[in-house]
Amino acid sequence: MQLTEAQVLELLQGGDDAWLYAESARLCRENFGDAVYLRGIVEFSNVCANGCSYCGLRRQNADAKRYRLTREEIMESVTVLDREDLPTVVLQSGDNGAYSTSGIGEIIREVKSRFDMAVTLSLGDRPVGDYAHWHACGADRFLLRIETTNRGLYSDLRDGKLFEDRVKLVESLRNLGYEAGSGFMVGLPGTDARTTAQDILFLTSLGLDMIGVGPFIPHHATPLASEPMADPDLTYRTLAVLRLMNPMANMPATSALEAMEPGGRLKGLELGCNVIMPSVTPDRVRAAYSIYPGKHSHTVNTEDSIIAAKDIIRSIGRVPSASKGYSLRRNHEQQGPPRCPAGDFAGRAQECG
Ligand code: 5AD
Repeated sequence: MQLTEAQVLELLQGGDDAWLYAESARLCRENFGDAVYLRGIVEFSNVCANGCSYCGLRRQNADAKRYRLTREEIMESVTVLDREDLPTVVLQSGDNGAYSTSGIGEIIREVKSRFDMAVTLSLGDRPVGDYAHWHACGADRFLLRIETTNRGLYSDLRDGKLFEDRVKLVESLRNLGYEAGSGFMVGLPGTDARTTAQDILFLTSLGLDMIGVGPFIPHHATPLASEPMADPDLTYRTLAVLRLMNPMANMPATSALEAMEPGGRLKGLELGCNVIMPSVTPDRVRAAYSIYPGKHSHTVNTEDSIIAAKDIIRSIGRVPSASKGYSLRRNHEQQGPPRCPAGDFAGRAQECG
């Protein structure tokens, strides 16, 4: 559905919540049925070279206990996912902190050769040559958020970096053949509903396979410590409007929703999200991956986090899918294989690659 900025703004201001939420839920069901895809996320290092003002992993945060998982530890987490029938792993870390380009490439190769698994990367800004190398190693997808479309704010919050450069990187990911994902934070200081409407329209214009949007949550050890958290209503409406405009995109109900308010992820699934990303970061370090407070407070360990995710899905009558959940948008555009029915955990028989 195409909407103008004025129409988006009206919906974000609560112009017609009943219609908005019914329509976004209907579109999600029409495209994905009851299936909710699970992607297990391994946060393999919190070392970060950047100084983003919103993020608890910023290099200036001396309180953060820095860690770097070994290759063996990363593979152990991937093994847990395989055992639990979660056929996508998301490898995420701080920017430029932990591994060399070739070291990450080796890990991707190992996952792809040992497991029948989709690999998603979330590793921040890197030279396009690095993205190309990892794609050649077998990585399927990449997540790189644009954070905000307000150019001045983007530079202020991200060490003077340029919004245009970030967008070019997102476009390069798609051109390299990745399934490309991006997103932004709702409620960054200095933004309002109009900024959010512009973020929604811009993000939609990128034609993304995946859209990850969550609320800004202030972190005590950052310059934005005393700023308010995002408004929950604006956050939920943003997700619903994104679903209207991007009916086929894979959209996670992010853990930031849960940090914003208990039950936030459930609400996200009810209003149009179709993905949930439990953390399988090893217990000994998961608390240290503190991008924002409360990130891991709802689950203390890997197993709980997978169980909690499946419970949330089932509690609203949906099905935790064993499918890799490749991009419907691509299948559609390339007229590829028909889309996957909702898989269940009886096995992977229903998976459609
Ligand atoms: N609150 C919410 N989300 C945050 N992120 C970083 N810091 C915060 C915060 N304080 C998001 C950014 C980043 C992603 C990994 O986490 O959008 O791209």
